[in-house]
Amino acid sequence: MNNIKIAPSLLAADFGNLQRDVELVNSSQADWHHIDVMDGVFVPNISFGMPVIKSIAAHASKPLDVHLMIIDPDRYIKTFASLGANVLTVHYEACTHLNRTIQAIKAEGMMAGVALNPHTSISLLEDSISDIDLVCIMSVNPGYGGQKFIKNTFSKVRALKALIVDKKASTLIEIDGGVNADNTKALVEAGADVLVAGSFVFNAQDPTATISNISKLANT
Ligand code: DX5
Ligand code: ZN
Repeated sequence: MNNIKIAPSLLAADFGNLQRDVELVNSSQADWHHIDVMDGVFVPNISFGMPVIKSIAAHASKPLDVHLMIIDPDRYIKTFASLGANVLTVHYEACTHLNRTIQAIKAEGMMAGVALNPHTSISLLEDSISDIDLVCIMSVNPGYGGQKFIKNTFSKVRALKALIVDKKASTLIEIDGGVNADNTKALVEAGADVLVAGSFVFNAQDPTATISNISKLANT
């Protein structure tokens, strides 16, 4: 039995029924709520900001996994902590002083995550992996839900797993983008610990059953 976490991405929820969809995740077999923050600068799209996250937090009963697709994320670390974020993930490409950013996230009592765009090599984390609680490997170009999974992700997951083992780190590996029932098992076999799924969950006829399906696939 594995212990793979499923994190439905609320980016694909029905924002007109956000409380309903947050509660759906609460009562499902999901482990975390994945929350995508986009600023229209680091990525071409704008998603939602603090007031919406405040409403999500008011109804969510599972840990909040906040993925910042924004430039200069250091400006908002304290704000996201006060909103109730449990995991705060910044992009490698958006941080000039990544070590400082990681320390600042941890100082606020959150798990520190670092996301890598599809073109960013795992080898760039050689000197920081032991400080990072979670690495989010982007398996699509960030900015939008519903995109096609990039297959090169599998070799990146294997390379990251090897680095974590080599450095005796306890970093979790998260996969974000295009996750579905067809790639779940292979991602877990490659070394994934957390699977984010947006459109595959919320566009399904029965999102609750879809969450249990991928959780079962991942954990058997
Ligand atoms: C993409 C976001 C993802 C997105 C995943 O920039 O970071 O979390 O919601 O959506 P799907 O699962 O539809 O690819
Ligand atoms: Zn995300």
